[in-house]
Amino acid sequence: MDQFIINGGSRLRGQVEVAGAKNAALPIMAACLMCDGSVTLRNVPQLADVEHMATLLRKLGLTVTRDGHTVRLTVQDEMNCHADYELVRQMRASICVMGPLLAKRKRARVAMPGGCAIGDRPVNMHLTAMRRLGAEVELSEGDVHAQAKRLSGAEIFMGGPFGSTVTGTMNAMMAAVLAEGRTVLECAACEPEVADLANFLNACGANINGQGTPRVVIDGVDSLKSCEYRIIPDRIEAGTFMIAAAATNGEIRINHCPLEHMLAVVDRLRQIGANIERSNEAVVVSSARRLEPVEVTTQPYPGFPTDLQAQVLALLCLADGNSIVTEKIFPDRFLHVAELGRMGAKLRKEGPTVIVEGVKRLYGAPVMASDLRASAALVLAGLVAKGTTRVDRVYHIDRGYERFEEKLASLGAAIERVKE
Ligand code: EPU
Repeated sequence: MDQFIINGGSRLRGQVEVAGAKNAALPIMAACLMCDGSVTLRNVPQLADVEHMATLLRKLGLTVTRDGHTVRLTVQDEMNCHADYELVRQMRASICVMGPLLAKRKRARVAMPGGCAIGDRPVNMHLTAMRRLGAEVELSEGDVHAQAKRLSGAEIFMGGPFGSTVTGTMNAMMAAVLAEGRTVLECAACEPEVADLANFLNACGANINGQGTPRVVIDGVDSLKSCEYRIIPDRIEAGTFMIAAAATNGEIRINHCPLEHMLAVVDRLRQIGANIERSNEAVVVSSARRLEPVEVTTQPYPGFPTDLQAQVLALLCLADGNSIVTEKIFPDRFLHVAELGRMGAKLRKEGPTVIVEGVKRLYGAPVMASDLRASAALVLAGLVAKGTTRVDRVYHIDRGYERFEEKLASLGAAIERVKE
């Protein structure tokens, strides 16, 4: 397993390009199961998770070819409807093939995703949505089996105890585009990636309105055609570079930064002491030497994203005072807390909240990545720590950050990948 070796202390300076959004690209690729003809997707990030999705779709009868950031997908054979456990356990987003398979092939067999480093991640709301659209759904041998002679529009409530489900809303939306009649998703997830999926489906001939709001109305159509579509930029990658600029007291120009999707992040980072200025198509982020402590609470969009909680927590370790970070989406998403502690951070976890006592310095240490965003947080901590940090298991980072260490090195970070 590859490692990153980081020598902390460099102020990051220069410019960086934000890649396409992982969490938009994955469901949009899955949605291609429903399209007649070839779909061309642009701005697809080069990530391990995208490769996983391509492998899964090939097993489901598609040809998938890539040329740089352009991916072309064509359905060739509609016989296989089984997303097996081998693939699903490597990537939970595999669940996104359920809605499209059911809508187009009338049956889907998808391994039930298991446990995950960021906590309990049930898919009950996905299954309820499929049932509301008229599918028979049962669990056998660890797989969800869903089938329906035809799907019919329905009113479906997508809210749960921790907010609306993002991929659940996407699955319901994808199943509903080819259903008969009107589907209304109430309390739908409003994340920009959900809206991007809807915009892609509309470009293929679907009839979806209200995407990006809690009430999405889908009028079923008979078929979806091919199209060319450009994936939105990744707000989480952009946010990670903003935090890197603030943490290292640097100045980074972030190109293709989707600032309009990042208001909660901008609000918190400005409060902490970052300067964030729009400059033509880019955003320039720099920071004051003194970082202010703040309260951060993760919430569904447009609130502060859970996918940036670990990274902002790493930043707050160096603030001048006590901060409070509360996780309202995945209350157990705190595996990075113990690892940051190994680097000298003073953190106390109380249920879904971490009290961060700012310290003057972090110190390099060997640490272990546990999931994608926690790993990014450890890299950020390594960039500011005194001495050398070794981050193990960086395959987690390769799942969701394109050429992360190369981008950081081009900004002046002393980071290198050591191949196993
Ligand atoms: N939930 C349920 N029942 C369900 C589904 C979800 O109770 O059927 C709960 C979850 O346990 C959680 C909350 O609802 O407490 C929200 O989960 P959601 O379903 O929205 O998460 P997801 O769709 O599985 C996506 C992203 C995650 C991101 C979350 C929250 C993709 C592929 N994944 O997951 O991204 O953290 O939304 O914004 O879009 C990442 O990129 O690192 C990542 C984990």
